[in-house]
Amino acid sequence: MKESFFKNKRVLITGHTGFKGSWLTLWLDQLGADITGFSLNPPSNPYHYKFLELENKIADVHGDIRKAEDVAKAVRDYEPQMIFHLAAHPILLSSYSDPVDTYMTNTIGSLNVLEAARKFGNVRSFVNVTTDKVYANIGKMDAYKEGEPLGSNDPYSSSKACSELITQTYRQSFLSDTGVTTARAGNVMGGGDWGKYRVIPDLVQSYVHKKEIEIRHPDAIRPWTHVFDILNGYLTLGEMAYERPKEYSGPWNFASGVVKTVEDLVKEFSNHWSIRYRIGKAKLHEDKLLLLNSDKSRKRLKWKPLLDFETSVKMTVDWYAYFYNNTRDKKPISRYSLLQLNNFRNNLRKNSA
Ligand SMILES: NC(=O)c1ccc[n+]([C@@H]2O[C@H](COP(=O)([O-])OP(=O)(O)OC[C@H]3O[C@@H](n4cnc5c(N)ncnc54)[C@H](O)[C@@H]3O)[C@@H](O)[C@H]2O)c1
Repeated sequence: MKESFFKNKRVLITGHTGFKGSWLTLWLDQLGADITGFSLNPPSNPYHYKFLELENKIADVHGDIRKAEDVAKAVRDYEPQMIFHLAAHPILLSSYSDPVDTYMTNTIGSLNVLEAARKFGNVRSFVNVTTDKVYANIGKMDAYKEGEPLGSNDPYSSSKACSELITQTYRQSFLSDTGVTTARAGNVMGGGDWGKYRVIPDLVQSYVHKKEIEIRHPDAIRPWTHVFDILNGYLTLGEMAYERPKEYSGPWNFASGVVKTVEDLVKEFSNHWSIRYRIGKAKLHEDKLLLLNSDKSRKRLKWKPLLDFETSVKMTVDWYAYFYNNTRDKKPISRYSLLQLNNFRNNLRKNSA
């Protein structure tokens, strides 16, 4: 990624108050982008974005992607050149209890963003953040490549596969001069995530409140990747799609290549924190194994993850430890978030030199 590329670029980030969105907003602010953030209510309390003190640096729009007029107004008013679409109903388990909202947010929401780009925008690059779970999981041991069939067994994954299809249709039917892409990544770790039904926020609760937690699907294998590595992928993709829309449009996988189970993750956290857990009974279906092949991103975007599994866990542990041990002294976590991000950026520069 060429950092100078983003200076003064008008960028719309949907879901900027969420876990990934907050880090992406912080990063793009460091790069001098002209940012509009568009989100509904924050996904949790507390939430990372609140601590970053970015409200006065970006255009902060409170809106609902399920409402076409909200999205159209933001695109008309701020005329983004790039869109990173992250706003979503992102939790697999809660998609079972609220399938309609999941589909409304993840499919109609994506449609509204693409339609606003078609009607009102001068958007050169569009990155739709979906998930590794969009693939039809046929239980194979090999990692999935971008060309393989979509299809899923639960409302969340299926709604994201629908979002992929809508994006593909808009790319082919309407937005031929725009780099229209989708970015598929799996489970992400890092500081600042308090999402429900996610294993790392559960581990944090065990650490903070010294309570036993229940681990479902202990033997499920996930492609754990640090949020900075994934965001580096999104930014690189956004830049390349802007520069060469025809060549870079389409789907892209991003995964670290780490093959570890949920229980491996819990044990790695236990090397830092005393964690009490029991293995619970899974009531709802989640795929056991789904691996992503990121060769295309590695070759054509020159993307490569920098943080190994142990370092990613350590950085996550350090972030939460800082958060919970320093808030009483009122030392801002924003400084610590920036420190971690800028260390990573230095690392990235060294690696691409
Ligand atoms: N975190 C992960 O491990 C992971 C893994 C794979 C894919 N993803 C995808 O990455 C994206 C970001 O995930 P996250 O973990 O940051 O989620 P998050 O829950 O932390 O944040 C979601 C964001 O979307 C916004 N939002 C929700 N509904 C909205 C609506 N109707 N209108 C406007 N804004 C709305 C929320 O306000 C919030 O800003 C999502 O698309 C998710 O599906 C996440």
